[in-house]
Amino acid sequence: MRTFGTQGPVNPQENYVVSRTEEIADCIDRVKKGKYIVLFAPRQTGKTTLFRSAIDALIAEAYFPIQLNFKLYVDCSVSDFYISVYRRLREEINGIFEKRGTIPSRVLNQFLDNTEVTNQVSMIEFFRQLVNLLPAHDNSQKVVLIIDEFDGIPPDAVRGFLHSLRYIYLGQSEVRCPYSVGIIGVKDITQLNYDGSISPFNIQDEFHLPNFTLAQVHELLEQYTEEVGQAFAPEIITAIHKQTAGQPFLVNRYAQILTEEMGVPKLETIAMTHFSKAHTQLLRERNIHIEYLLTNIRRNPLFESLLTRVISYKRGVRFNIDNEIIDELVTYGVIAKRPDGMCGIANPIYRHHIQENFKPLPSKPQARTPDTPLR
Ligand SMILES: Nc1ncnc2c1ncn2[C@@H]1O[C@H](COP(=O)(O)OP(=O)(O)OP(=O)(O)O)[C@@H](O)[C@H]1O
Ligand SMILES: [Mg+2]
Repeated sequence: MRTFGTQGPVNPQENYVVSRTEEIADCIDRVKKGKYIVLFAPRQTGKTTLFRSAIDALIAEAYFPIQLNFKLYVDCSVSDFYISVYRRLREEINGIFEKRGTIPSRVLNQFLDNTEVTNQVSMIEFFRQLVNLLPAHDNSQKVVLIIDEFDGIPPDAVRGFLHSLRYIYLGQSEVRCPYSVGIIGVKDITQLNYDGSISPFNIQDEFHLPNFTLAQVHELLEQYTEEVGQAFAPEIITAIHKQTAGQPFLVNRYAQILTEEMGVPKLETIAMTHFSKAHTQLLRERNIHIEYLLTNIRRNPLFESLLTRVISYKRGVRFNIDNEIIDELVTYGVIAKRPDGMCGIANPIYRHHIQENFKPLPSKPQARTPDTPLR
């Protein structure tokens, strides 16, 4: 039996999964057009899941997708970063041949053995030569470089790395290598540190990954009902969507509590009374997603004071993305623009946790002595 997943990327063999067909098709289409795509979205919104599905489809069409993850590099020196990236590139290249049931040519193996990548210049050279050593049939020379958790790149390497991708993108070579790039992360490239100068990467094709729609929440829960035979009262779907605003982790967490943790007999329909209990649990528990939320808010005392104003109805805050604090809170998925042009907390679950954890301190009642002047 499959389950609702909340620990990292989900896959349709083990989990109930929203197909996100349109988004995946859009992503593949952009890769085929040779775009250099960037996808920046808050934690646990399904970035990795989406790209993994796209990669499977690209392998099926004989493209050459190479996946990297920069998560662990943040404290590395620039040369250690490139050395490790090169090692991973080699493993990935061999992995693709293995998946296809073929082996790299002798020349390619020799080239990989004798190459050293220690900076952006040697990386450009590596890709330039690599493409000529890949099999020339189908799409095999179309290397697609997917970099997950890009914000983990060492700050000193950001500028050079992005410059080299731009250089390759704008180059004149017959088959560009990488042909297409996907950069995935939470922080936007403009928010990463590159010496305060303007972004060297102005060629990007931005990709947005919205939260689940009501129909997608329905699609997800329906898979469980079809497999197990246990139905949800229709209001539950609306209630989950309303409480989470379609945030993918939170949607799955509700479903997990309702189907696995509450022990509702499988022959019984899951009803609103069950939902209410699940809701109370979700408001009380400290899961990993809420930990991220609170940790992000604690990064900067100005976040807390802005959120306190957003929550207070009297002193709401006008949404202005040019305000750095608002921009960062949007990046972390904490706030969103409301239809009336004001800032709103992204969903009622976050709102509750923010209220609980960042209550404004009650102002101290001042003892008035006979000398204290009345104002
Ligand atoms: N297509 C999907 N169908 C169902 N649930 C999903 C889907 N995509 C994401 N989720 C939910 O979101 C969670 C996080 O997914 P994933 O790891 O792909 O997101 P992410 O944005 O890469 O997260 P992170 O920022 O932590 O790297 C999953 O555990 C699951 O609960
Ligand atoms: Mg991820």
